[in-house]
Amino acid sequence: MKILVVDDENISRKILVSKMKALGTCVAVDNSKKALAEMELADNKEDPFDIITLDVSMPGMDGRQMLKHIRTREIKNKVPKEERVKILMVTARMNMNTIKSCIKMGCNGYLTKPVSRFQLLQNLGKMGFDTKEALEKEGNGATHTTAVADIINRFYTGKIALPVFPHIVQEVQDLFSSKDPSIEDLGKIVEKDIVISSKLISIANSPLYKGMDTVSSLNAALLRLGLKTARGVISAVAARNLFSSANKILKKELDRLWLHSFATASLGKQLGEALGHKKADNLFLMGIIHDIGKMLLMKAFVDIHPDKSVADPELRLAIHEIHTTFGAVLLKKMRFSSPFVQAAEFHHWNTYDKDTDQELLILCLADHLAYETGYGFLGAEGQRLQEKAGDKPKEDAGEDQETDRDEALERIKNLSALKLLGMTPEAVYAIGEQIQPMIKESAGAF
Ligand SMILES: [Fe+2]
Ligand SMILES: [Fe+2]
Repeated sequence: MKILVVDDENISRKILVSKMKALGTCVAVDNSKKALAEMELADNKEDPFDIITLDVSMPGMDGRQMLKHIRTREIKNKVPKEERVKILMVTARMNMNTIKSCIKMGCNGYLTKPVSRFQLLQNLGKMGFDTKEALEKEGNGATHTTAVADIINRFYTGKIALPVFPHIVQEVQDLFSSKDPSIEDLGKIVEKDIVISSKLISIANSPLYKGMDTVSSLNAALLRLGLKTARGVISAVAARNLFSSANKILKKELDRLWLHSFATASLGKQLGEALGHKKADNLFLMGIIHDIGKMLLMKAFVDIHPDKSVADPELRLAIHEIHTTFGAVLLKKMRFSSPFVQAAEFHHWNTYDKDTDQELLILCLADHLAYETGYGFLGAEGQRLQEKAGDKPKEDAGEDQETDRDEALERIKNLSALKLLGMTPEAVYAIGEQIQPMIKESAGAF
C-alpha cells in the first residue's frame, strides 16, 4: 500500500508517518503543492497512492481545497468511484462543519488530533482494508490493538450482529406516525408486553416522574407520563436490555455505562425543557443511545475474548477513541434518523458553531453535566474525575465542596455548547444539582 501524508506541522506529520508505516510505504510532504507533484510523479509511474491524509488547515491550498481539487480531477478523468484514491482528513476537534463539508465533497473519513492508532484502524476498516495483516507484520500482538482491529474488521464485514430493539418499539413508532395517537391506543400496544408494562408502572412511580400518589395500573402510568414521554420511556426500556450481559465484568461496565447514559438522557431532557426545546423527549432517547458504540465494542470484545478483562484501562481508552464514529455507523445501520446519528458522531467535539443543531449542543452539555454530577463514563473528563477521586473523596465537606463547585462552573463556562445555547454556567449547574439525586433510583426502575 502507498500512502501520502500531507501536513504542514512537523510533529503531526511525524506521528502520522510513524503510525502509517506498518501499513505500507509512506511519503510525507508539508504542503499541497509538493503533494500534487508527488501524485503526478506516482501517476506517471503508474503506481498511484492508495491513501492520502490531508491536514485540514494548511497555508496555501488547504486540505479542503486540495480534496476538492483531487475529486474534481478524478471526475473529469472519469475515474470510477471504487478506483478513486482514499482520502482521510486530519483535523483538531474544532471544525465540525468543515468535516461535514469534506464528507459531502467525498473524503472517505477523518482523523482528529492527536491521531491514535485506533482511530486509524477504524478508518481503514471503514474503507474496506484488512488491517490485521499489517498489524501482524508490525508484531503488535501483545497489546489490545490486534483485538480492536479484529472487532473493526468483523464489524465492517458484517460479522457482528447488530443490536435489535424489540418489535414493540416499532409498533409504537408506527402509532406515532399515524394522525392522532391516543393514550388508549398506546396502552393496547404496550399491554401485550408484560415486562415493559410493569416497568412503565414502576418508572411512573420513580422520583423523576413521581406524582402525589402511587400509580398501580398501566393506564394510570401512561396518563402520568403523557403520550410523548411514554414513547421515549418505552424506547429507553427496550434499550436497557441491550446493556446486559452474562459476563460479570462486562455487566459491571455496562451498568456504569447505563447510569451514564441515563444521566445524560435525564439531564438532556431537563436542559431541553429549560430552553423551551420542542423535542425534549427526543433528547431523552438521544442521551440513552449516544454512547451505543461503546456498548457494542465492549460486547464484541467479550464475545471474542471471553478470557480477557473488558475493564482494562488500555482497552477502555481504545474503545473511547473510536466509539463515536463506530456508534454513528451503527445507528445508521439501525435506521435511526440523522439527528441521532450526528449526536453519536459529534458529541465529543470541542467547538461547535451557530449552525450546529440545538439537539447536539444540548446533548453535549448533558454529557458533560453527567460527569459533573458523578455519572461520567471515561471521557477525558472521566479520567480527570478518577484522578481526583484518588486524592480526595467527593463528600469532603465545606470548603472543598465550594472549590468543587467553582471548578465545575469554570469547566462548564468553557464549553462551546454553553455559549451557543445562551445559558449561564450557574443555571446549568443548578439543573445538575436538581436532577442528580433522582438519577440512580430512576435508572434502576428501567
Ligand atoms: Fe461518548
Ligand atoms: Fe457520553
